[in-house]
Amino acid sequence: MIDFNRGDSAAATVARDPLTPAGAGFRPSRSVVLVGLMGAGKTSIGRRLAQRLGLAFVDSDHEIETAAGCTIETIFEMYGERAFRDCERRVIGRLLEEPVQVIATGGGAFMDHETRGTVKARGVSVWLRADLELLLHRVSRRANRPLLKRGDPKEVLSALMAQRYPIYAEADVTVDTRDAPPDVTVDAVIAGLQALAPVDSTEAPVP
Ligand code: S3P
Repeated sequence: MIDFNRGDSAAATVARDPLTPAGAGFRPSRSVVLVGLMGAGKTSIGRRLAQRLGLAFVDSDHEIETAAGCTIETIFEMYGERAFRDCERRVIGRLLEEPVQVIATGGGAFMDHETRGTVKARGVSVWLRADLELLLHRVSRRANRPLLKRGDPKEVLSALMAQRYPIYAEADVTVDTRDAPPDVTVDAVIAGLQALAPVDSTEAPVP
C-alpha cells in the first residue's frame, strides 16, 4: 500500500542566498505552484525561486516517487496513468496543506479538475510558458517521460500544447521562458507574484 501522505519535502528545504537582493523581503502568503509542460523548467526555476524567496522547495513528481517507492515510469507501466493522476492529486493536496513553499508540479497536474481547484484555493499558480522548440530541446536531455514515448515527441508535445495551454492560462501568473539565464525567468516570476500583491503577499506595506 502506498502512503501518499509520506514524503521528504522537509528535507528539500533550500538555503537562502543572502547575496541575492531581488525578491528579498517579499514573501508570498500562499505556496507558489509552478505549472507548465514538460521541459518548461518548473523544477530548475522552482528551486532557484525558493532559494531567492527563502522558502522550501518541493517537486511533486519526486514526492510521488518517494511515496510510491518507485519511479513515475514504473507507476505508469504497472498501474496506468489514471492511478498516477490519483497519486498526484493526493500528493499535491498534502503539499498545499504544508507551510508556504514553492511547489513544482508535473505537466499534467493542473489539467486535473480537482487538483486545479485545490491549487486555486490554497496556492498561487505560475505558468511557465515556453514554445515548442525550446520544450523539445529541453526534454531531449532525459528519456524517462512516459507520455513522450507514446509517439514522436514533437507531435506529442504539440498536441499537449493545443490541449493544455488554454487551461494553463488560468494560472494566476504567466511567465514566458526563453533560452535566457534562469535568473531572468526567476526575476519575471517574482515580478508577477509581486504584481498580485497585496492579495498574495505578506510583504510589509511601504510607509
Ligand atoms: C507529465 C509530466 C511529468 C510527469 C509525468 C506526466 C505530464 O512531469 O509528471 O511524466 O502529464 O505532462 P514534468 O512536467 O516535470 O516532466
